[in-house]
Amino acid sequence: MSIEIEIATGASSRAAAAPLLSAVWPPEVLKALPWGHITFADPDLRVMIDRDGETVCHVGITRRAGTWNGRKVHIGGLGNVATRADCRGRGYATLAINAAIHTLTEEHSIDFGMLFCEPHNSAFYEKLGWQSFNGPVYAEQAGQRTSFTAMAPYVFRIRRLLREGTIDLCGLPW
Ligand SMILES: CC(C)(COP(=O)(O)OP(=O)(O)OC[C@H]1O[C@@H](n2cnc3c(N)ncnc32)[C@H](O)[C@@H]1OP(=O)(O)O)[C@@H](O)C(=O)NCCC(=O)NCCS
Repeated sequence: MSIEIEIATGASSRAAAAPLLSAVWPPEVLKALPWGHITFADPDLRVMIDRDGETVCHVGITRRAGTWNGRKVHIGGLGNVATRADCRGRGYATLAINAAIHTLTEEHSIDFGMLFCEPHNSAFYEKLGWQSFNGPVYAEQAGQRTSFTAMAPYVFRIRRLLREGTIDLCGLPW
């Protein structure tokens, strides 16, 4: 068995990730989710784990200049965290999330990581050191600034950790 991990960008990486993402979130499943109607940003980068040439795990990375209490902050957004159903529990998502954090840390400009998750995944992220963000989050939807409440916000310290206050993603969520 061969395992490869890569950080990819661009349209070819979107195409490579698509079969895994649509297997994990088929359109009919997506429609029924509390966040299924939301428009998300296309990631800047993707961490992809390939096993025997097939992508089995994916994490999208979105870099964003947002605001915290009105002051500019550089956020490293993680989203579309997914492992193929038959490959779960082997540490792939942990590896991919750690690679994403490593990549963001190495850029030396990102203040903190941020992701959004459903309640049943909170324990997974807490085990990896993510902490809840306990304040309102705003994001863009249909060209308007709106309150983003569809999923719970979690943050990860890179240069700083902010757990209270108001965050504006200043763009689409991820
Ligand atoms: C959540 C998900 C990405 C985890 O992927 P994975 O590759 O199985 O994760 P890992 O193998 O790295 O798991 C690490 C540990 O977390 C545990 N874990 C996984 N999902 C968990 C969950 N939802 N709640 C609590 N613990 C969880 C694993 O059992 C494992 O525990 P261990 O270290 O004691 O063995 C995967 O279950 C998945 O794709 N789910 C569907 C899509 C989804 O909900 N994505 C998250 C969007 S926010």
